[in-house]
Amino acid sequence: MLSLVILGVLVSVVHAEFYPTYPNIERCVGLPVQYSCENTTVVTDSCCNVVQGGLVLQAQFWNTYTGLESHAQLLPKGSWGIHSIIPLNCDGTTAGQYCDPGRQYDPKPLPSTLSNGTVIDPYKGPSVRQFIQEFGRSDLLHYMDTFWINQGAPNEDLWAHEFSIHATCTSAFDVACYEPGYKKHQEVVNFFETVVKVFQMYPTYDILVASGIVPSNTTTYTRAQITNALYSQTGADPWLNCYDNGTVLKEIRYFHHVLGTEQYGHFKPLDSIISSTCAETGIWYYERTPTSEKAVSD
Ligand SMILES: *[C@@H]1O[C@H](CO)[C@@H](O)[C@H](O)[C@H]1NC(C)=O
Ligand SMILES: *[C@@H]1O[C@H](CO)[C@@H](O)[C@H](O)[C@H]1NC(C)=O
Ligand SMILES: *[C@@H]1O[C@H](CO)[C@@H](O)[C@H](O)[C@H]1NC(C)=O
Ligand SMILES: *[C@@H]1O[C@H](CO)[C@@H](O)[C@H](O)[C@H]1NC(C)=O
Repeated sequence: MLSLVILGVLVSVVHAEFYPTYPNIERCVGLPVQYSCENTTVVTDSCCNVVQGGLVLQAQFWNTYTGLESHAQLLPKGSWGIHSIIPLNCDGTTAGQYCDPGRQYDPKPLPSTLSNGTVIDPYKGPSVRQFIQEFGRSDLLHYMDTFWINQGAPNEDLWAHEFSIHATCTSAFDVACYEPGYKKHQEVVNFFETVVKVFQMYPTYDILVASGIVPSNTTTYTRAQITNALYSQTGADPWLNCYDNGTVLKEIRYFHHVLGTEQYGHFKPLDSIISSTCAETGIWYYERTPTSEKAVSD
């Protein structure tokens, strides 16, 4: 009986129809075209432009292990991992967190209480992994399981967290932007593919290798070495994030203003406006534990 139920689930997944996920931008034709945070007239349609959180960050992690190696949750060899796209206000302050309680899919909200006192309840429903399968997007799911890797918990918990905390505070992912014909969770799948698209603009690992910056447990790098390498391909200084008093590199965030929507529009690289947490010198960019990596094709 149980195996029949499992078979039923498998069949329904295999038979999931491909269903388009992008928003309807017909309404945007003819509107003024301006970069977010650079508009000289009031932007009126929040489905066509980024009106809240116009400073958009593409964030990547460098982890050396996952903690779930025994479940084959491994890091992509020769690549950084995806963190998210993060909306900030034009001045660098937060553009909000968990902005829509009706689209809260994060099983472990962090923070669990917002600064205005709102408590975010843990989500207990079907996983966002299932949402992706329902749209027939095994291609996207495979990519996410390769490059969007969590530490200490399953990958789908990270994906759900990023959608719930950030995409709900980005107007172009509002349900209304997918009308007519909105299919439930369409914007969740669309957020994930948008995160993947923006991540693919920045092959951080390869750009660093080209400047002789490779993970090492014997040599440290300076902040300028890392920044200059990335600047050479982006024309902008990203934000470098370190732990252990600024000595261990763990994250890079690339800053942008966006023309049009995050889904379709153009990302213009900008210098970080936030101070790095990394020291000037003596930065470790550690080698990964070999058993924490898997070979990937990109
Ligand atoms: C740019 O658009 C935002 C959002 O609509 C608006 O608040 C702001 O006033 C606009 N800036 C200018 C200079 O019109
Ligand atoms: C607190 O902030 C959240 C997210 O921005 C918002 O949805 C909620 O309405 C706010 N609650 C109060 C009481 O202001
Ligand atoms: C942290 O780093 C700063 C300068 O990089 C140094 O002066 C300070 O002693 C360090 N603190 C600790 C606890 O190692
Ligand atoms: C390099 O150091 C990091 C941090 O201590 C460790 O997690 C990793 O396993 C080391 N890698 C190798 C190849 O020794």
